[in-house]
Amino acid sequence: MQILSIESSCDETAAAVIRDGREIVSSVVATQIEEHRLYGGVVPEIASRRHCESIVGVVNEALEKAGLTAKDIDAVAVTFAPGLIGALLVGVNFAKGLAYSLGKPLIPVHHIRGHIAANYLAHKELEPPYMCLVASGGHSHIVRVNSYTEFETVGRTVDDAAGEAFDKAARAMGFPYPGGVFIDKASKLGDLTKYRLPKPKTQNPYDFSFSGLKTAVINLIHNADQKGEEIDVNSLAACFQSTVGEILTDKFIAAAQEFGYKKIALAGGVAANSGLRETLSTAAEKNGMTLYVPPLSLCGDNAAMIGCQGYYEFLAGNIANESLNAIATMSLDKVKF
Ligand code: KG4
Ligand code: ZN
Repeated sequence: MQILSIESSCDETAAAVIRDGREIVSSVVATQIEEHRLYGGVVPEIASRRHCESIVGVVNEALEKAGLTAKDIDAVAVTFAPGLIGALLVGVNFAKGLAYSLGKPLIPVHHIRGHIAANYLAHKELEPPYMCLVASGGHSHIVRVNSYTEFETVGRTVDDAAGEAFDKAARAMGFPYPGGVFIDKASKLGDLTKYRLPKPKTQNPYDFSFSGLKTAVINLIHNADQKGEEIDVNSLAACFQSTVGEILTDKFIAAAQEFGYKKIALAGGVAANSGLRETLSTAAEKNGMTLYVPPLSLCGDNAAMIGCQGYYEFLAGNIANESLNAIATMSLDKVKF
C-alpha cells in the first residue's frame, strides 16, 4: 500500500510517499525557518501563506522522486491536529481535495502520533507496547504506547514545552530562532559545571515544568548585564542543555520503571539534541532498557512520519470524509475527527 502524506502544522511544508507503513519511498520538506527567523519566531499568518505557495510543488516533488503519479497512490494521509490552525487548514484542504478527486481514502493523523511513528521508519523491529518521551517545540509528553493507535499520556508539561524552553533560553543568550540547535552546538564548547540552574518541581512526578528554568537563565543574563559582568554563553548553553536533559531523562526513566517498560523511545524535534540523546542512552543502558531514537532527519517535522502513522490509522479503520476539519489543540489519547 502506497500512502501520500502531507504535513503543514507549523513552519514546514512536507510531503512523502510511504510504502506499507515502514518504507520511505520519498520525503520532501520545505522549511520556512529563514523567513520566521526575521521575527524571532513563527508568524502564523506568514506560515499559512507560505504553505499555500509551496504545497503543490512539494507534493509533486514527492511523487516525482517516488517515480509515481497521483493515480498510483492508494490513500492520502494528512496532519489535521494539533498545530497552527491556518497552517493545518492548508494541508487538510489540499489532502481532502486530492483524496476526493482520486476517489481514495483520506486518513487524518495526529501530529504527535506522527512524531512517535518516526521510530518505526528507522527501527523495523520496534513494535508496541513501549514507553515514549516526546519532546518537541510545542509538546513534552511521557506516553504509554499501548498499540499503534492507542496511547496513554502519563506526564506532560505544565507550562513551556522542552523545545520552547530551548528556543526562549537561546533567544536570551543571543542565538537566532529556533535556538535549540545553536544551544546544542555552543554547549560542546562550554563547561557544564559553571552555572547552577534549578530543576523545577511538579505535583505529578512525571509532569514537566520548564518555565522556571528558562526564567533562571534570563535572570542570570540580566543580573550579569547590570553588574557589567560577561556571561560565558557556551557554558550557560552547556548548563542549560544538561539540566533539561537530566530533567527529561530522570522523569522518563522513573516513569518507565514504575510502569514496567524495558522498551523505550524518544521522539520530537528535541530528540535531535546531542546532550539528551547521550544522557538518555546512558540511563537506559544503566537500567537495562532498550532505547529507540530516530535519526536526525526524522526528529523534526516531516511527512514521512505522518505517512507511517497514517498506515496504522488506516489499518485501525480511522478514515475521514470530506467534512474533516483542522483542529488546533487535541489530546494524543483521544483523537476525534
Ligand atoms: O518537532 P518539531 O520540529 O516541531 C514541533 O512539533 O514543535 O520541534 C521543533 C523544536 C524547536 O523548539 C527546536 O529548537 C527544537 O525542536 N530542536 C532542538 C534541536 N533541534 C531542534 N532542540 C535542542 N537541540 C537540538 N539539536
Ligand atoms: Zn512537530
